[in-house]
Amino acid sequence: MTATSPTTIETRVREALTRVLDPEIRRPITELDMVRSVTADDGAADDGAPGAHVTVGVDLTVAGCPMKSTLVRDVTAAASAVDGVAAVDVDLGVMTPDQRAALRSRLRGGTGDPVIPFAQPGSLTKVYAVASGKGGVGKSSVTANLAVAMAADGLRVGVIDADIYGFSIPRMLGVDRQPTRVDNMLLPPIAHGVKVVSIGMFVPEGQPVVWRGPMLHRALEQFLADVYWGDLDVLLLDLPPGTGDIAISVGQLLPRSEVLVVTTPQAAAAEVAERAGSVATQTSQGVVGVVENMSWLTQPDGSRLHLFGEGGGERVSARLGELLGTDVPLLGQIPLDVAVREGGDAGTPVALSDPDSPGAVVLREVARELAARKRGLAGMQLGVTPA
Ligand SMILES: Nc1ncnc2c1ncn2[C@@H]1O[C@H](COP(=O)(O)OP(=O)(O)OP(=O)(O)O)[C@@H](O)[C@H]1O
Ligand SMILES: [Mg+2]
Repeated sequence: MTATSPTTIETRVREALTRVLDPEIRRPITELDMVRSVTADDGAADDGAPGAHVTVGVDLTVAGCPMKSTLVRDVTAAASAVDGVAAVDVDLGVMTPDQRAALRSRLRGGTGDPVIPFAQPGSLTKVYAVASGKGGVGKSSVTANLAVAMAADGLRVGVIDADIYGFSIPRMLGVDRQPTRVDNMLLPPIAHGVKVVSIGMFVPEGQPVVWRGPMLHRALEQFLADVYWGDLDVLLLDLPPGTGDIAISVGQLLPRSEVLVVTTPQAAAAEVAERAGSVATQTSQGVVGVVENMSWLTQPDGSRLHLFGEGGGERVSARLGELLGTDVPLLGQIPLDVAVREGGDAGTPVALSDPDSPGAVVLREVARELAARKRGLAGMQLGVTPA
């Protein structure tokens, strides 16, 4: 057998395909049983170049898979790079319902039944729920920036926009499509390396949302279980403002989550932020820290204009620390910065689009601090007393 005999080429193409990841699930397509066939005819390619013409049969999870073209490109590139291959064709098909069911159950760790992975005892994912008292203080901007900054540092990150009434995360992260549905499993779109879903994506368009507490709870529960996240290092939830039902549901459904409180320096904002943070006592969550946003505006002469007053972040951190009996650090003070707003509007958060701008520098520091923390102990049964 020569080095370029068809069997060898097929084997080597299959080997090369183990390095092609499904763009949504982020696992090798060979592992997901998406490669139906690899055939090679030994001979000249159409253009007369010597080498084999390879056809790769790929079964998509669903027919309308939005990442189809990415997959075809990646498969073609991987197969073309194999020695002795002159041309590659990708023959797309679709999984059968049985194949899909097998895939779902494999992705869920063989249990078949949807569970909330982050609520399981062995989960290693840090879950941070970003909360505030007042609206408009910058929760979503903080969430989006922390997410992309952590992803840029190599972490596997997911974001849930849990603000069912006024979701803004998809725009801030530049996500313009719905998750792909594989039967009742949802594959989140990925933006700037971050998996993103918004609970608002499931509200029929144009309909006012009048969900009451129990319905919201059920919706969130199902949503958490139905989304396929894979292994995440960090999951961030962008909560609606205030101490509403969603904040309590998040605490109950994700007992291992910790709250990150966002406030402005203003006294009125700080007071309600304390209340939002104190929801954590009802749900036995911890408060990981406080971020003060819109702290000052740097004037052309370098001086700081304290547009919204001073001291809100310090105050919330001190009060929550007393209330919870733990250290609740002020993790950062983010100045007013045009680039923060522009990044959010453009769909590329400032931590990526202008990483050295004053706002981005603080956001990236906070991201590093949170990423470096040990996972919270809230909701865990401890066999030992933590030092
Ligand atoms: N540090 C900052 N400098 C400049 N603009 C900012 C800053 N932080 C947030 N913004 C802008 O302020 C507005 C409100 O921010 P954002 O949407 O993040 O707040 P929110 O707390 O999520 O609001 P909501 O309560 O409506 O969900 C946005 O237009 C955002 O771009
Ligand atoms: Mg918001």
